[in-house]
Amino acid sequence: MTTNQPIGIFDSGVGGLSVWETVREHLPNENYIYLADSKNAPYGSKSKEHITELSIANTKYLLNLNCKMIIVACNTATTNAIASLRSTFDIPFIGIEPAIKPAAVNSKTIGVLATKGTLTSDLFLEHPVKENDEITIVEQVGKGLVEMIEKGETNTTEMKALLSDLLRPMLEKNIDALVLGCTHYNFLKEVLVELLPSHIELWDAREAIAKRTAYILDQNQIRNHSKQQGITRVLTNKRDTAIQNFVGDNIIVELIEKD
Ligand code: DGL
Repeated sequence: MTTNQPIGIFDSGVGGLSVWETVREHLPNENYIYLADSKNAPYGSKSKEHITELSIANTKYLLNLNCKMIIVACNTATTNAIASLRSTFDIPFIGIEPAIKPAAVNSKTIGVLATKGTLTSDLFLEHPVKENDEITIVEQVGKGLVEMIEKGETNTTEMKALLSDLLRPMLEKNIDALVLGCTHYNFLKEVLVELLPSHIELWDAREAIAKRTAYILDQNQIRNHSKQQGITRVLTNKRDTAIQNFVGDNIIVELIEKD
């Protein structure tokens, strides 16, 4: 293993790019390969078995490209497949889960907006905060959101209408915090700030993931100590997606063959 090998990151599509941005801010000298399994998006409505199969295929693809560790930048894949990934591959994995724990420090009624796959996973159902009688969790499946975000529709009238419908039941239950339990939803922050009363705090796990990545790199002695800014490659297996809009002009998204 050499330290300049890339860190592999995958998600069902563009969502994990929001994680990559934060990780790269913390670790600018690392090289990254981001794999958007856009052809198979969304993951959120698939079975645990199917999500695990896709996560294993993504990991194999990234390992063939010589990645030294993998960030599963997808709550759905993490909550359904991280145990299988860890038992199948002998490399460090970092997963992302809804940031309920930090939200629970100051909140009594926490809204969790996530995919069906995340909200029905054992990891979520057995979350320790659920044992705490003083805290109420209000769950909401973000039905339809990922499909729109994949098309680049993060701030349209249709998006605002859909989000308002999804937020209503949570607002009726007086949530005082909202956890964005799907990495795609990080791209909705601007609209959410507009739609939500200002006392509702928004939570996501990106900072925690970036810190954890730095820790795991050091623990495994695989941190890249180069003084130069690293390189990122972004790959997708679907033609005609809006992914290029999410990465800016400096990176040209590569189209790959992968089922
Ligand atoms: N971005 C993903 C997540 O964090 C998955 C969205 C999907 O494909 O349904 O859950």
